[in-house]
Amino acid sequence: MQFKHFLQFNDFCREEYEYLFERARWIKREFKQYRQYWPLADRTLAMIFDKNSTRTRLSFEAGMHQLGGAAIYLSTRDTQLGRGEPVEDSARVISRMVDIIMIRTYEHDIIKRFAENSRVPVINGLTDEYHPCQILSDIFTYTEHRGSIEGKIVAWIGDSNNMCNTWLQAAEIFNFTVHVSTPPGYDIDPKQIGLNDTTHFEKFANPRKAVMGADLVTTDVWTSMGYEAEMEQRRNDFAEFCVNTEMMSLAKKDALFMHCLPAHRGEEVAAEVLDGPQSVVWDEAENRLHTQKALMEYLLLGRLQAEK
Ligand code: CP
Ligand code: NVA
Repeated sequence: MQFKHFLQFNDFCREEYEYLFERARWIKREFKQYRQYWPLADRTLAMIFDKNSTRTRLSFEAGMHQLGGAAIYLSTRDTQLGRGEPVEDSARVISRMVDIIMIRTYEHDIIKRFAENSRVPVINGLTDEYHPCQILSDIFTYTEHRGSIEGKIVAWIGDSNNMCNTWLQAAEIFNFTVHVSTPPGYDIDPKQIGLNDTTHFEKFANPRKAVMGADLVTTDVWTSMGYEAEMEQRRNDFAEFCVNTEMMSLAKKDALFMHCLPAHRGEEVAAEVLDGPQSVVWDEAENRLHTQKALMEYLLLGRLQAEK
C-alpha cells in the first residue's frame, strides 16, 4: 500500500501545501458553524510523547475526535518504549493496531527509524531538529492575515532550533527569504537542516538588522526541551536577542509577530510584543487544530473532491 509520512517540511511539495490550506480553510469554516464532519470514523490515531506538550497533544486529540475518530495518548514514561523496547519493534506493533501515528521525540533519527518500520503514516509532532506541524499552521496563519507568503521576508531571531530549521526548509518551498540572526556559537548548519541551496536565507549578526523591512518577525524559547542543562549559559548568550517594541518598530509597519508558544515574556519576547497588536500567536495556536485535521485527512484519505 502506498502512503506518505510527514517527518519534515520538505516531505511535501508546494502544491500539496496549497491543497492542505484549501482543506484547512473548509474544515475550519465547517467547525465554526458546528457542522459535523466525520470522514475518519473508526480510524485511530496513536500519539507518542517523549517530551511535554499542551498544543500538540490537544490539537491532535481534539482534531481526531472532531473528524469522527479516536486518539490514544502514549507516553514513553509509561510504555515499554521507556524501558528499552526498540523503536523498530514498537513501530511494527503500534502500526498494526492504529491507522496513523504522531510522535514527539528527541533526535530526528528516532522518528525516521520508527517510520521505516511503520505500516501506517507517521507525523512529526516535534523533534530536536524539526517542527513541521507548527510551520504548517504558521504559514496558514500568515496567509489568513496577509495573503501569500511568497517573496516576503521572515526575520528569525534567536536560537537555531527546530523551529528555525523548519522555517528555512519552508522558505525553499514557498519561495520567501528568512533573515536569520543567532548569537555567536548558535549558527545554523544548512547541510544538517537539509537545505538545497543558500538562496532563501541571509545571516545577520545584529538582530536589529535582520528585522529591518521584515513582513514577519518570529522567535522561540532560548532553551528548547532537552537542552535544559544549558539554560543559564543560554540566558547570557541570548541577552541581546529579545524581540521588544523597539526591535519590532524596525520591521515593516504592518509586520506580524509569531511565536509557536510556550513563550517566556521578558526573555525571547517582551510582553508588549507578545500581547501587542502585531502578535498573531493565538491564531497560530488555534490553526494547529484546523491544519492538522487537513493533514490527517490527506494522509488517510488522499485528495478529496474540490467541492468539499
Ligand atoms: N507549539 C507547540 O508545539 O506547543 P506544545 O509544546 O504545547 O505542543
Ligand atoms: N523549540 C521549542 C518548541 C516548543 C514547542 C522546543 O523544542 O522546546
